[in-house]
Amino acid sequence: MILSSDMTDRILVMVSLLLTIGCSDGVKQLTQADKQRFLAKGDEISTIAQQTLLTQVLQVVQSQGAARAVDYCHVNAIPLTDTLSENYSVIIQRLSDKLRNPDNEIQTKLDKQAWNQIKAMMRDSAVTLKHVLLQENKNIYYYKAIPLAIPACLMCHGKKNSDIAMETLKVIEEKYPHDLATGYEQGQLRGMWKIQMNANESLY
Ligand code: HEC
Repeated sequence: MILSSDMTDRILVMVSLLLTIGCSDGVKQLTQADKQRFLAKGDEISTIAQQTLLTQVLQVVQSQGAARAVDYCHVNAIPLTDTLSENYSVIIQRLSDKLRNPDNEIQTKLDKQAWNQIKAMMRDSAVTLKHVLLQENKNIYYYKAIPLAIPACLMCHGKKNSDIAMETLKVIEEKYPHDLATGYEQGQLRGMWKIQMNANESLY
């Protein structure tokens, strides 16, 4: 059969329509409003996760000292984010390029892309919310900067000879023999939250 140019045109239009509508195995294409909702959800969860971790660590620092709090983080940081992950049906992680816990590595192509965007945002004071939303098939990835926002962070991530007490350093080196997460100054970028959500899930 020879197709007239009019018919081929029509077929092409139909094929491209089908591709747009039925794209990628029923994965929802996010509208601008969807993206705003996923960003808001990520902001909410990361804020709660940050506050929970911080409150607990500072409580232990105050009652038992920084060295004991390292031990607390060692045992509890990942289980705590895991519990929050379960509560929200998402996957919550903290990633960094200078690691204390090797499980928190920046690994995937999207992680690297987000990290580069967040580093650029840190240099731009006009960007107040330093967060990024990326999609891969049905997975939505929310990332947010974790700066060393308060002086207390330096007790465990600051300079070895001044900010970190000898006793604390001893515990850090014992628990994390390959630790790279020291030498920071207040305000610097320490890492990023990563929250994995599902594109097809309704947020309401
Ligand atoms: C009492 C010591 C202590 C304090 C204070 C502390 N941290 Fe940490 N931090 C740790 C330990 C220990 C780990 C490794 C936790 C683990 O095993 O998952 C860690 C891990 C991290 C990570 C994950 C990346 C990695 O290197 O494994 C980030 C991000 C981080 N801390 C940011 C902060 C920020 C921001 C503050 C201040 C708000 C802070 N920390 C205060 C001890 C501390």
